[in-house]
Amino acid sequence: MTVERLFATLIYSRRVAGAGRLGPPLLRECRQLRLDDAAGRRWSAKSYPGGYTSYGSVCRMHRLSPTFAALERAIDPHVVAFARALELDLTGRALAMTDCWVNIMPRGTAHGLHLHPLATISGTFYLKTPRGCAALKLEDPRLERMMAAPPRRPGASRANRPWVQIAAAAGSVVLFESWLRHEVPANPAGERISISFNYGWF
Ligand code: NI
Repeated sequence: MTVERLFATLIYSRRVAGAGRLGPPLLRECRQLRLDDAAGRRWSAKSYPGGYTSYGSVCRMHRLSPTFAALERAIDPHVVAFARALELDLTGRALAMTDCWVNIMPRGTAHGLHLHPLATISGTFYLKTPRGCAALKLEDPRLERMMAAPPRRPGASRANRPWVQIAAAAGSVVLFESWLRHEVPANPAGERISISFNYGWF
């Protein structure tokens, strides 16, 4: 008997070298940005209740701040490694960071299901992750086709589950293809701070 595993959905997670050095100045800048960015606070009040994100206001932090540019340089090799694992043919082109924004989630803030349109690889670098804080929840991209599929057993392997959670760990980066639908459920712990980004090949 042969059982093949096809149409894989790859998720990359790894600790970022130098995260201990990058973390404190990034945290300071994230908190300062929340103070300075009135447009972002207004945007967040409507679209990110209880929390703050610069997604709708200052979404190219890697172009504005040398600290965030250093984070970009630290993440670039991880994106290259992930693209290699995905066996993407990028002949004549390179993946480059196009967007980079700040997310501050106090207790109770959630970020509903979404994709990252107009991007190739997306991900998050975790800065502050109190014990028990919300994980990143990924959805099986085939879910909407499973009209008559039986549910999976409670103890099913991660590869066969319709939802998988990736724990948020400070100093680590998580990467996925931008079409993969994901969310952050309501944060049950203290303030969780992360930096999210998109990479494009166009
Ligand atoms: Ni996202």
